[in-house]
Amino acid sequence: MELTSTFSIAERAEPLEQSDIRAVTQQVEAVGGINLGQGICDLPTPQPIRRRAQQAIADDHSIYSHYAGIEPLRRGIVEKEQTYNDVPVSAPDEVVVGVGSTGCFVSAAFTLLEEGDEVILFEPFYGYHRNILELTGATIRYVPLGGPDSTFDRATVEAAVTDDTKAVVVNTPANPSGKVWTRDELSRLLGLMQDHDLVAVTDEIYEYMLYDGAEHVSLASLPGAYERTITLSGFSKAYNVTGWRLGYAVAPAPIADKMGLMNDLLYICAPRPLQHAALAAFEDLSDDYVPNLRDDYAARRRLLCETLEDIGFEVPWPDGAYYTLANFDALAETRTGFGDDKEAMKTLVREAKVASVSGRSFYEDPADGRSQLRFCFAKELPVLEQACEQLREAFG
Ligand SMILES: Cc1ncc(COP(=O)(O)O)c(C=O)c1O
Repeated sequence: MELTSTFSIAERAEPLEQSDIRAVTQQVEAVGGINLGQGICDLPTPQPIRRRAQQAIADDHSIYSHYAGIEPLRRGIVEKEQTYNDVPVSAPDEVVVGVGSTGCFVSAAFTLLEEGDEVILFEPFYGYHRNILELTGATIRYVPLGGPDSTFDRATVEAAVTDDTKAVVVNTPANPSGKVWTRDELSRLLGLMQDHDLVAVTDEIYEYMLYDGAEHVSLASLPGAYERTITLSGFSKAYNVTGWRLGYAVAPAPIADKMGLMNDLLYICAPRPLQHAALAAFEDLSDDYVPNLRDDYAARRRLLCETLEDIGFEVPWPDGAYYTLANFDALAETRTGFGDDKEAMKTLVREAKVASVSGRSFYEDPADGRSQLRFCFAKELPVLEQACEQLREAFG
């Protein structure tokens, strides 16, 4: 509908548009195809977590919680961050439970950044990081990082740092590349942060999805890093509750304090009954939950990456997360419909009824992603098998 009134949309809202990801979702739904585009995990939520949610509602845990989250959940997060991540968090007042890790990223960004500040973002990036950073009015300095094998180069980052640089965003394991930052890379990044007095926001939402012996290292676990790091994670991906909107941030109390108040202002609190249910992730799941999850994803990764390789994609096998950012230059030499990433995305929907995401979604300059498509393998195995069969039939 065209608006006939004279008021204008705010400048910050003008550039917002439906992402390619949403658009391709609609296209693939229209042809009854399979969506390997959107990072939606369609696996079931573990029963103990669902049961606790039902119980929490039955117990009428329905009113606002403390803005930073219920105390038992924050205690559980402290323990998890100490044991799994080796992060030296010591008390619940260093934890903020928010509306997904995305809500925590928003609170972190608005707590740290304002117009005049600069922030370093590595490419390929996760679109929400870019778009949320833009809302703060800060200037984004993009630094190319490449695929899972590419290493962090201090000189390249240093060249992007100015007197106004305040923060750097790290995503490990990364969406879309699957890169897992090594201890050595993070140490070098920390050196740079210390030399230039920078803060890091690290998004570690895929911390359990690791392959071929890759190790998840939290930046905040390195000596001297905790005081200048906001660590983000959440329940969405590890426990298949993306729609629950439950994530958390861990940071030194003075930062967590302000972030909590920002969280209060923006959201009041994360959904209360679901905070109670999330405790099941720490208390009710068996010890083999994470190893099983890893094995399951490793099998899916193999299936998808082998299929894509067999039909002509060049596939950097991800070390972590559940995406691959595959290159179709070789396919474009023998097939029509692969002129660029948008065309390739449409060709796959038309000929294989499989959705992917155009590479341009992950770069400042769309040309940098023109030969790439991102595929997500967080699907029920039969669905992924069907998608791979359709890809082989169409392009094999
Ligand atoms: C890197 C990254 N961070 C955060 C999220 C969203 O996490 P949450 O559901 O906790 O907001 C996603 C989802 O795709 C993601 O890829």
